Amino acid sequence: MKHILLGVSGGIAAYKAAELVRLFKKQGAEVRVVMTQSALEFVSPLTFQALSGNPVHTELLDTDAENAMGHISLARWADVLIIAPATANTLAKLSCGLADDLLSTLYLAATCPVYVAPAMNQAMWNKIVTQENVNRLVNQGVHIIGPEQGDQACGETGFGRMTEPVSICTQLVAALSDHASLSEPYLHGHKVLISAGPTREPLDPVRYLSNRSSGKMGYALAAAAIKAGAEVTLVSGPVALTAPANVNLINVTTAEQMYQAVMFRASENTIYIGAAAVADYSPVVSDKKIKKEGDQVTLILQKTKDILAEVAALEQHRPFTVGFAAETHDLEVYARDKLTRKKLDMIAANWVGQEQGGFDSEQNALQVFWDQGEKTFSMTDKAQLAEQLLGLIAERIKAS
Ligand SMILES: Cc1cc2nc3c(=O)[nH]c(=O)nc-3n(C[C@H](O)[C@H](O)[C@H](O)COP(=O)(O)O)c2cc1C
Repeated sequence: MKHILLGVSGGIAAYKAAELVRLFKKQGAEVRVVMTQSALEFVSPLTFQALSGNPVHTELLDTDAENAMGHISLARWADVLIIAPATANTLAKLSCGLADDLLSTLYLAATCPVYVAPAMNQAMWNKIVTQENVNRLVNQGVHIIGPEQGDQACGETGFGRMTEPVSICTQLVAALSDHASLSEPYLHGHKVLISAGPTREPLDPVRYLSNRSSGKMGYALAAAAIKAGAEVTLVSGPVALTAPANVNLINVTTAEQMYQAVMFRASENTIYIGAAAVADYSPVVSDKKIKKEGDQVTLILQKTKDILAEVAALEQHRPFTVGFAAETHDLEVYARDKLTRKKLDMIAANWVGQEQGGFDSEQNALQVFWDQGEKTFSMTDKAQLAEQLLGLIAERIKAS
């Protein structure tokens, strides 16, 4: 039986945590609840005690509680720690290692996977310091679930609503089985080729055209594929990231170089994931610096080669081919069109140009489509998303 430790901090969404306990119990998990002092102002511990069947923990410096189940024993007991809702205050404390109450001390003592589901007013969520705290937590290996966009208790609209308990529960149950199967390398024997990051198309000796891709999704996929036991080659455009250990890294700059690097290796691999934002057009390069003359300048752009379509069209040793689609509108229509037009096995689509997710963000949400199905992965950090997507790819390969 899985041991789920639920931390509840002091936000309006604390009442939704009660539903979470019920859902976890329904999944057959043993649940213990830790509440912050502020959380006690929102919901009675009696609710959690009745639903979990266990006493609720609220005090760090409680001699009785320390004897029975102190913060270290609670941390050891947990297979997973989920904090839902996670307030801005709790995120800030966790991100810098403060340990002045039971929940924050537990977080420091925990060696199990940690998930947080933030919930707060949209302005609080968008505040730079909150985003920095979240990024720091992601860098510490914490998985972030949500928040979602929508109407808020304060009457405002935006990102900040806690992800619905059903969705948190589904993600956690899937993650628990992922974590359990991490020692089981489900991509063992697979060779995975991933292209990541932007390309740079030179205009003249000093200028180039590029895009805002950070490469984070492709690098997260490479790390997750290594963890899953695959042999991984990463063809990367110029990014400010360090490649995961044991990855065979090929650095490229232009779309043409990326095309050459991918096509040269594609048929040696069993899976190809095109997560790069390859330029669709590249300029005719001037060998001299373009001078500032006149009010306007016209660039002539030439269509680049379609790497994904060419890999998918390989007649021999064709890898299972997965594309990405980043869209600002009509996501499903464009993604499904790309899937069939390029004859891909799967396409992972995400919104870009939104407040949250997409390019250069630590988090993302994906809608994945294949011939006879689709799956939605809600907003979470890219490491978690990469594991979910690779799990789905492995499942589809098995089914085909
Ligand atoms: C009515 C009310 C609702 C609140 N809702 C939230 C919330 O949804 N999210 C949040 O981050 N803080 C919220 N706060 C502020 C927190 O309760 C406050 O920052 C507190 O110090 C959090 O403590 P904790 O993180 O230890 O639980 C709210 C405060 C009040 C009075």
